Amino acid sequence: MDNVNQYDFLLHLVKERRTIRQFTSDPVPDEYITKIIEVARWAPSAFHTQPWEFVIIKNQDVKTKIVAALEQYGPPIKDPLKEALPRKSFKDAPVFILLLCDWRASIGLPSRTPENKAQVANLYCSSLANAFLYMHLAATALGLASQWYTATSRPEAERAIKEIIGIPEVLTIYDMMVVGYAANPPDPKIVRDIDEITHYDNCGEQDFRTNKEVTDYANKTKAWCMSQH
Ligand SMILES: Cc1cc2nc3c(=O)[nH]c(=O)nc-3n(C[C@H](O)[C@H](O)[C@H](O)COP(=O)(O)O)c2cc1C
Repeated sequence: MDNVNQYDFLLHLVKERRTIRQFTSDPVPDEYITKIIEVARWAPSAFHTQPWEFVIIKNQDVKTKIVAALEQYGPPIKDPLKEALPRKSFKDAPVFILLLCDWRASIGLPSRTPENKAQVANLYCSSLANAFLYMHLAATALGLASQWYTATSRPEAERAIKEIIGIPEVLTIYDMMVVGYAANPPDPKIVRDIDEITHYDNCGEQDFRTNKEVTDYANKTKAWCMSQH
């Protein structure tokens, strides 16, 4: 593939990847799960320490327990306007994948970095996010739908899920990816203009948004996001 085609293919894939919050119960072939992890393991990580582990949840009992724990300790998003309406739920999805962080890997970071807990947390948050995004892109490339689910890393939920699965103390849950087939197509997405977000060389305050512009846009994205849940 030449560079132009490669770029077009990548942009198409990136636009195709969307957060789906309602799934059919159609099964996902096992080889697709392996393919998702195959892509993720090539993600860049701090000092190439690759602190990730992947836990695939397919067993209905285990899924039910995880959903129950998340119902008890989440969901984090509460919108009074939507309280009365049924919320979308990932619970019918055939596969959940927990991405774990093994903090012991930080011993492989250079010089004195492992001693600086805040810096390690920063480096590992970025490293795990890379692997996680690769997973979502791989799922999209395979025609699957996926959801990035964060409530699994809330302390009470994380404790409960670690116990359900038997995850050792030293590992933590980064986030959970829900995988399956979309029950409905996603709504169109709003994104910021390329000219507004691109800056060259020397910049000043005038090059960036005003407080009001930031707040107005944040209100817009918040309303959009709420409408998707
Ligand atoms: C760090 C992070 C955490 C997220 N957590 C959740 C979540 O807990 N539940 C959810 O439904 N979507 C979650 N999302 C998905 C975002 O809401 C979604 O990416 C955003 O609304 C843009 O929509 P899109 O993914 O369809 O492009 C998360 C995304 C990121 C990057």
